[in-house]
Amino acid sequence: MKVLVIGSGGREHALVWKLSQSSRVDKVFCAPGNAGISGIAECIDIKADDVDALLNFVKYEWIDLTVVGPEGPLTAGIVDTFVKEGRRIFGPDSSGARLEGSKIFAKDFMLKYGIPTAEFKTFSSYLQAEEYVRLKGAPIVVKADGLAAGKGVIVAETVDEAKSALKMIMRDRAFGDAGNKVLVEQCLKGEEISFMVLTDGKTVVPLATSQDHKRIFDGDRGPNTGGMGAYSPASIVTESLRSDIMQNVIDPMIKGLQRERMNYRGVIYVGLMICDGKPYVLEYNCRFGDPEAQPILMRLDSDLFDLLKATAESRLKDVKVLWKDDASVCVVLASKGYPGSYEKGETIKGLDSFKGDENVMVFHAGTSLNNGEIVSSGGRVLGVTALGKDIRTAKDHAYKAIEKIHFKGMHYRKDISDKAIKRQ
Ligand code: AMP
Ligand code: GLY
Repeated sequence: MKVLVIGSGGREHALVWKLSQSSRVDKVFCAPGNAGISGIAECIDIKADDVDALLNFVKYEWIDLTVVGPEGPLTAGIVDTFVKEGRRIFGPDSSGARLEGSKIFAKDFMLKYGIPTAEFKTFSSYLQAEEYVRLKGAPIVVKADGLAAGKGVIVAETVDEAKSALKMIMRDRAFGDAGNKVLVEQCLKGEEISFMVLTDGKTVVPLATSQDHKRIFDGDRGPNTGGMGAYSPASIVTESLRSDIMQNVIDPMIKGLQRERMNYRGVIYVGLMICDGKPYVLEYNCRFGDPEAQPILMRLDSDLFDLLKATAESRLKDVKVLWKDDASVCVVLASKGYPGSYEKGETIKGLDSFKGDENVMVFHAGTSLNNGEIVSSGGRVLGVTALGKDIRTAKDHAYKAIEKIHFKGMHYRKDISDKAIKRQ
């Protein structure tokens, strides 16, 4: 079988790596991919959002399964187009992808189906939003309705901060039409986890739990990023919390998908805040988390191709997912300046040190080839991901591996997974 993975980040490297281990997969392509992916798959020079070119490629190469990594092509309707053309594709259609594409749609969905979430109000008038912020006080959360490359959420500690966020989104239109409407939301205090499930709209298969580290600096300080590291499993999820999540968050969500007749055959990433032991939904994403996919896929013992193909064919009830007992930790190595504007083109050294080590994978996130050399080309450059018998051991393996890697300006958090270790 031939598989096409769409995207170019660490998540896509992990997907390609795991898919290429399947005995049923003869060849993996990736569009557009990155330097690390090009070592194990054929990278195709087509952008992730060029739906027509992707469809032509799939027809020309007789691709059996297309797996969409990022949200952009999903909200743009790639699944609708592929399905119309009779092509097998993993991911929700544009109606399902609205759960990520419109935060207001997602909150209305949660309200309608009784899914616990922070109290909120939506606004299309700047003045009314500002008045509400003044009335409610801080801390308070301001969110642009549409996709904003992960930058559309501002957790404001003061009323002034919230007002500047509203101004940036609604008046200065920093995210264009994505900021036509905003959500102003109660600020929840607690611990965040990522809870992903595969679903074909009927059956739900929960994946291993994980926890991301969104802030740039140790101790969860500094601005938000796409994610500076993640580990799995998330030990905060006890058996009783897990059944609470399944019963009160996941079951009503699936009921909602069915009632709304959304065609969902993919992964739903539910971002949860655990407040006093209870789960509240912060957001839905219609794709795998990045970097969460990296540690999760390292722990997966089942054939990923079988799982994704069964999801795309609405046969999830036939599959069983097995996990390794090992824990996994992924630490993101970022470019100087990230999450602001960052430097590119730095030569990366030490990547050969890990060949043959089954416990360490260096997933490439923002890399490219320059005259045969691997250089940085993104804000998040590498995701060093390691397995270990427990989180502490996995963390040790990951940070030992990092000592062998170097590029100019490289920086990373030193405390990935410490929350879990403290709980042990
Ligand atoms: P979102 O894209 O909605 O997940 O928001 C990005 C990040 O903002 C989340 O991962 C949280 O860290 C934070 N956040 C979002 N909503 C809230 C909230 N209601 N209370 C506290 N923090 C939030
Ligand atoms: N790591 C957060 C995300 O994938 O949205």
